[in-house]
Amino acid sequence: MSDPGADSSARTGPLMSPLRVGVWDLPHRVAMAPLTRCRAGPGRVPTPLNAEYYRQRASACFIVSEATQVSEQGIGYPDTPGVHTPAQVAGWRPVTEAVRREGGRILAQLWHCGRVSHPDFQPGGALPVSSSAVSCGGEARTPAGKKPRPVPRALEIGEIPGIVDQYRRGAANALEAGFDGVEIHAANGYLIDQFIRDGCNRRTDAYGGPVDQRLRFLREVTEAVVGVVGPGRVGVRLSPTNSPGYIEDSEPESTFTRAAETLAAYPLAYLHVLEGLPGTPTGPAAGRPRVVELMRRVFPGVMVLNSGYGIELAAEQVRSGVADVMAFGVAFIANPDLPERIRAGAPLNTPNPGTFYTPGPVGYTDYPRWTPA
Ligand SMILES: Cc1cc2nc3c(=O)[nH]c(=O)nc-3n(C[C@H](O)[C@H](O)[C@H](O)COP(=O)(O)O)c2cc1C
Repeated sequence: MSDPGADSSARTGPLMSPLRVGVWDLPHRVAMAPLTRCRAGPGRVPTPLNAEYYRQRASACFIVSEATQVSEQGIGYPDTPGVHTPAQVAGWRPVTEAVRREGGRILAQLWHCGRVSHPDFQPGGALPVSSSAVSCGGEARTPAGKKPRPVPRALEIGEIPGIVDQYRRGAANALEAGFDGVEIHAANGYLIDQFIRDGCNRRTDAYGGPVDQRLRFLREVTEAVVGVVGPGRVGVRLSPTNSPGYIEDSEPESTFTRAAETLAAYPLAYLHVLEGLPGTPTGPAAGRPRVVELMRRVFPGVMVLNSGYGIELAAEQVRSGVADVMAFGVAFIANPDLPERIRAGAPLNTPNPGTFYTPGPVGYTDYPRWTPA
């Protein structure tokens, strides 16, 4: 009898070995990357459909939830969930319980969009806030259709402790909602990244200029969040080389190596790096080094890596020691049982990008599980 796993196990085996990450003993190294799906209910409250979606994916070694706003000011897209109202906390509880009942773990990704927002999402129609009054351009998908994003308002220095507090409260609420931990979203051009990268941060105070000052906001948020969540339950996501929302850094190698070195001072569960291979859309430019390898040298903890790695290339990252855990995004959208499929060498379902952000169960909870022939 043929065993579909016989050939694949040698190639994918590194993904299947157990690992201690923070306070968790994980059975393997296939994590679910955070994925915005725009399917929260009224009031941006998670629904039973969201619980079913995450329940189906509970065999990930851990799930990072879709990006979840820490405040109304942090909103930037339609129908994304929050973790700042009592109803949202109550709505998340059945989600976290469903994942736990299946033996899984789920972390809340804490999110503030900053300048990627639009006044239509903001309390009182105010301007979105950022490190500096520099627009990211493009259009926001508001409830009234697509609208150009305006130039944001630069935060006053005296307002920053209040923003740090939004993350602190979001983290406390996430614990109350039953999450196993949280991931600080410091990637993809959102608020924390707007402080880190010098293409956006033009501040001349203690939060701008030299890299250690641009990292100050990240440090303060990390300290606040670790303070309420505790050691071994907080991850941080960074994206050194992609440029969503036209965000860029003039020296990603030194900026993000310093970020990794800085984060090594905190008792994190892991550092999550979104960086594809050189020459891919989220990877370093041709001729530049892989930033994740530079970060690895100065960050002694668990390194999670993501973006555009197929199964075998992902296994290679673990085998060669670049990463400890690999996170998968689109593959988890289409394959709720991705770890089982990898273990068995089973074929993968094809994702449908047309339903990534549409309401309802289609393209969300209706991807079939693999059944051995
Ligand atoms: C539909 C969709 C939604 C996403 N939402 C988020 C998000 O909420 N937070 C985040 O950090 N990244 C988000 N990403 C990026 C993914 O986490 C991941 O980095 C990306 O899909 C590349 O990994 P992959 O090649 O394994 O899919 C999203 C990507 C997609 C396709």
